[in-house]
Amino acid sequence: MNITPFKPDDLPLLLGLLDQAGLPRDGLTDHLECVLVARDGAAFVGCAAVECYGDAGLLRSVAVDATHRGRGVGEALVRAAVDLAQRRGVRTLYLLTMSAPAYFARFGFRIVSRADVTPTVQQSAEFNGACPTSAIVMHLDIQKETDSVAQQSSSSDTIKDQVRDHYARRIASGSCCGSSSGCCSDSTPTEVALYGAEAIAALPKGVVTTSFGCGNPVALATLRPGEVVLDLGSGGGLDVLLAAQRVGATGYVYGLDMTDEMLSLARRNAEKAGVTNADFLKGDIENIPLPSNTVDVVISNCVINLTPDKGRALEEAFRVLKPGGRLAVSDIVIDGDLSVFPVTEEQIRAALSWTGCIAGALTIDEYRRLLSDAGFTDIAVTVQHRFTIDDVSSDVPGDLAAIPEDVVKGLAGCFTSSAITARKLQ
Ligand SMILES: C[S@@+](CC[C@H](N)C(=O)[O-])C[C@H]1O[C@@H](n2cnc3c(N)ncnc32)[C@H](O)[C@@H]1O
Repeated sequence: MNITPFKPDDLPLLLGLLDQAGLPRDGLTDHLECVLVARDGAAFVGCAAVECYGDAGLLRSVAVDATHRGRGVGEALVRAAVDLAQRRGVRTLYLLTMSAPAYFARFGFRIVSRADVTPTVQQSAEFNGACPTSAIVMHLDIQKETDSVAQQSSSSDTIKDQVRDHYARRIASGSCCGSSSGCCSDSTPTEVALYGAEAIAALPKGVVTTSFGCGNPVALATLRPGEVVLDLGSGGGLDVLLAAQRVGATGYVYGLDMTDEMLSLARRNAEKAGVTNADFLKGDIENIPLPSNTVDVVISNCVINLTPDKGRALEEAFRVLKPGGRLAVSDIVIDGDLSVFPVTEEQIRAALSWTGCIAGALTIDEYRRLLSDAGFTDIAVTVQHRFTIDDVSSDVPGDLAAIPEDVVKGLAGCFTSSAITARKLQ
């Protein structure tokens, strides 16, 4: 199951589901930009919407198809809708319900009196006749919830779910490399540009050489025979296979990823390549399933930007490295300061896609600080490629229209693919 923004083609299914659930349609088409849709494969199985009125919002139209009730779809929709409201600057969120106050209480909503509702929300269609006046009014203080650890971990889980769903879908759809390529079995200009034709050609036939990365951490790491390597977010396994060649039979490479579909592809690849000095582990880079001081080199290719708690991921990388071990990472990094734009950093990040590797990117200064806080020394962040406006707009299913065009243009020059190296002292 995955949750995506509403698309115009969804309208008949959206209205049908609301009718089925006995929920009002009034006013909804004025707020379609904040409608979320749950899908199971191609099937439309649920919806939720947020109407935003400045820093107040209205959660409405939470409905799940009868075939999918009791499977966590409603919960995922409510959490995603609260997250969306928060990213849109909503600080206080209301809802009306006839029969489900206990359900919404699980998310922190509390019953309030109609008179206490923010006037802008009182003017919404739901408050103005679409819902009976006997409906129960509930309120969530998003600001307060945001400050609590519980909310932080739930929104972090939401991001991880979105990232996992996104990469699982890209494997399932066969559109492994987004706009730059369209196949999963042959190398494309993307892989050749990142790794060189020779390295790709040296891999056995049948290996899927698709990269979801943005650099070549294997080359950056200058691996030596006998070394133990860990690849954070190993995807289809290309960097692991290349690293396994470099460290040879006396070395060993671990790939770590949280997405089952990626792990299956990587394991198939390793089998086809006859690689016996590598293993793929399921897990979260914020909680690496390896003992401390066991790895010579941590590599990663376009993953750290995707994880909500990057400080924690870097602390974990530091923990598993042996004294004297090194980190060699390719990642999307912001070269510059988002505060110079005439919109807030929060608005910029809300308009970009987390799964497109952009919204969660750190600035160079933040990367350096987090590496240093984790204990690393000899830190270097080197810009290797700057993304163009087309790069930023093409692979980003976010909401770029929400920010002015000149800000989008200015942002494009700030997003880079960078090489990050650091060391754990002996
Ligand atoms: C952009 S792809 C990069 C894959 C691979 N490194 C490559 O270069 O092709 C991101 C990968 O990181 C994984 N990932 C993202 N966040 C993760 C996390 N917190 N823990 C483990 N894996 C994660 C995703 O499942 C996906 O396979």
